[in-house]
Amino acid sequence: MRDVATRSIAFVAVPVSFGGPRMLPHHSRNLPVALPLRSLTPAPPDPILGLTETFRADARPHKVNLSVGVYVDDTGITPVIASVLEAERRLLAKAGSKGYLPIDGRPGYKNAVRDLIFGPDHEIVESGRSATAQTPGGTGALRVAADFLLQTGSSKTIWLSDPTWPNHPQLFSMAGFALRTYPYLDESGRGIDVSRMLGSLRSAAPGDVVLLHGSCHNPSGVDPDAETWAAVAEIVADRELVPIVDFAYQGFGFGLREDADWLVGLARPGLEFLICSSFSKNFALYNERVGALTIVAADPSRAGSALSHLKIAIRSNYSNPPAHGGDIVETILTDPALRAQWEVDLAGMRNRILGNRAALVKALVDAGVPGHWDPIQRQRGMFALLGLSADQVARLRDDFAVYVVGKGRINVAGLTSANLPYVVGAVKAVIED
Ligand code: LMR
Repeated sequence: MRDVATRSIAFVAVPVSFGGPRMLPHHSRNLPVALPLRSLTPAPPDPILGLTETFRADARPHKVNLSVGVYVDDTGITPVIASVLEAERRLLAKAGSKGYLPIDGRPGYKNAVRDLIFGPDHEIVESGRSATAQTPGGTGALRVAADFLLQTGSSKTIWLSDPTWPNHPQLFSMAGFALRTYPYLDESGRGIDVSRMLGSLRSAAPGDVVLLHGSCHNPSGVDPDAETWAAVAEIVADRELVPIVDFAYQGFGFGLREDADWLVGLARPGLEFLICSSFSKNFALYNERVGALTIVAADPSRAGSALSHLKIAIRSNYSNPPAHGGDIVETILTDPALRAQWEVDLAGMRNRILGNRAALVKALVDAGVPGHWDPIQRQRGMFALLGLSADQVARLRDDFAVYVVGKGRINVAGLTSANLPYVVGAVKAVIED
C-alpha cells in the first residue's frame, strides 16, 4: 500500500483571471501522482433514495413505490397542502429579497419552531433556556447536531435504536461518532422490548449520546407509551446521557401537542438535550429542505454559548440556510387563520394514513396472508414493517415491481385504493412461496 504520509505537497502561485494569484497544490516530481478516484469502486446506492432512482427507471406500468417516506393522496399525488399554497401566495405578493439569512436563520422562524415544539407557555420558552437554528431539513439538523457535539467535546459514542432509519448510522459515523445500538423491537417485531431497551440504555456511559425517535419510529411505527418514555427520561437523567430527539414527524402520530408530550419528561431542570425538527412531512415541504435544531440548556447563558458554537458548525457546513421553506413555515405558524388551516391539512394527512393502516390490515387478513397483522393498525406515522426476508423484498421488486425498504418497511402513506389489492396480492405471493 502506498504510504501517503511520506508525500510532500508544494504550493505554487499561478495567475488567475480575477482576484490576483491563487495557490494550487503541486506534487513534487519524485512522487507518483495518483488521483484518488482511480482506486474508487462504485458505492452501494442509498437504501432509500437509491431505490427511488431504480423505481423511476422501472418501465413496468403497474410499479408501486412504497419505499421513500413521502405522503401521497389517494390519486398517488404528493399535493402542496392548502396552507402552504396560501402562504406562498402571500410571500409572492410581498416585495421579498434574496439576501443571505443570518447563519442561524430568521428570528421569527426560530421562535415559531420553538413554540411549536414546547407550546408557547412552556417553562423552556419563558425562561429562554433554549436556542434554535434553522437548518436544511431534519437531516441538516442531525448533521449540525453531530458536528456541534463533536466540536464541543462531547462523548464520541452514540446509541441508535435497532432498527433505525438507515441514514442515522451513516450520518453519525461520517461525522466521527462510534456507533452503539440499543434493542428496540420484541421478537414479534410489532411491539417494543421494553426491558431489553431500558437495560441497554442503562449500560451507556455518562455523557454518551442517545438518539431517540420523537414520534412515529422509523422504520417500525412503534412508539413507547407514556410509562416507557418516563423510564427513558429517568435513565437519561440518571446516567447523564445526552439525548438527540429526531422529531421528523411531529403531528403525524396523535397530534402536534400529543406527539410532543413525552418531551416534558426530558425537560426537567438541569437536563440538556437536542431536538432535530423536520418540516418535510408535516408541511409536505419535502423539496424545500426546511428543518431546525433546538438545543435545550440548563440556563439561558448556556443556551447562548451553545448557539455561538452551533453557528460555527453551520458556517463551516453550508454557511446559512435556504430561505423559502422557512418563510413558508414562519408565515403559517405566525398567522392564526393559516395555522388553523395547516392543522386541518395535517389532520387530513394523519387520518388518511390511519385509514390506510386499517385498510391494509383488513386486506391482508381477508386475503389470508400468513402473519400477525393487527398491531399495524395501532402503529403511528408513515411506516410499518412487514417483517420480510431479503429474498422476499427482492422478489417483490423483481417479480412484482413493488418497492419496499430493508426488511419490508413500507410507506403506508403510499398505498392507494388503486394499488392496495395489487400490493396485498404481491405480499401474499412472496410470503406463501
Ligand atoms: C424515509 O425514511 O423514507 C424518509 O425519511 C426520507 C429519507 O430521506 O430517507
